[in-house]
Amino acid sequence: AETLRIALAGLGTVGAGVLRLLEDNGELITARAGRRIEVVAVSARERSKDRGVDLSPYAWEDDMTAFAGRDDVDVVVELVGGSDGPALALARKALAGGKGLVTANKAMVAHHGLELARLAEDRGTPMRYEAAVAGGIPVIKGLGEGAAANRIERIYGILNGTCNYILSEMETTGRDFGEVLADAQALGYAEADPAFDIEGVDAAHKLAILASVAFGTELDFAAVDTSGITRIRSADIAQARALGYVIRLLGISDCDESGGERRLFQRVAPCLVPRSHPLASVDGPTNAVVAEGNHVGRLLFEGAGAGDGPTASAVVADLIDIARGNATAPFSLPVASLEASKPADPGNRRSR
Ligand code: HSE
Repeated sequence: AETLRIALAGLGTVGAGVLRLLEDNGELITARAGRRIEVVAVSARERSKDRGVDLSPYAWEDDMTAFAGRDDVDVVVELVGGSDGPALALARKALAGGKGLVTANKAMVAHHGLELARLAEDRGTPMRYEAAVAGGIPVIKGLGEGAAANRIERIYGILNGTCNYILSEMETTGRDFGEVLADAQALGYAEADPAFDIEGVDAAHKLAILASVAFGTELDFAAVDTSGITRIRSADIAQARALGYVIRLLGISDCDESGGERRLFQRVAPCLVPRSHPLASVDGPTNAVVAEGNHVGRLLFEGAGAGDGPTASAVVADLIDIARGNATAPFSLPVASLEASKPADPGNRRSR
């Protein structure tokens, strides 16, 4: 079969991780995809920076939106980040030009996912975003495909590695917030602007995406009731501990269908988790998602929510899916069914 030709925008931690993964596991990936996945062009802000990967096999574009006009590109991988700006311009242009899109950009999908999914559906081209939620954990596929026969009743979990690292470090070492945050930044878990992490916005992006996949509802990031961990003190953690709890920043969503109306509840907040609950022992930058399906029961997904290897693993899984010709919903947001099932009166709207 023909090679699937990729253009890669963004060569930070994740971009370099994708090149390394395609190289390291090339044979296995070709076997599973049924054809070769080949990077033909790359783009990033700086060309000469040392990333520990050899860029000489790839064409270079200073302007990544030029990918959309290249006839030798089938799929654009967007790893630039940011809800708007160049990432969004590239995503729109690529889809409009009939290219597939794979993105790890949770902010962009949370804000513009529906528009992009419509565009993809319109052009009959795939759009995937597994890496946007919970890094390496295949939770979009797990819920969208693996649990597709169920009505999902509730989802909740740890969706931000930086906050989980901060809370669990504060608990086990007694160090204070600022010091541990600086560590998380140095270790590369935190967003470019760590306010997105500690104020709960990054978790809210992921929760809104997850809720739309789990419940088949229209993505509604603006309605996520969001608070972060900036006001948590060591004393709160000690007090919780004395009572048999740990504090975790959780994203929680359910969809109430009683009374003939669908009401979507979405909240991100620091929560008291009983020591005996599986989420209480999730420490460090790990993510975990619990989903309750009406036939499968409780599912627990746990794994690395950030970092080059795990996030690249999710990006390349999407590419393998596309190479196999697996282009249909639910991996692209199920636009048609969304329109039919838009919640009439969302439970907790809040503008932000
Ligand atoms: N800043 C994010 C986190 C990175 O800490 O979870 C992965 O989205």
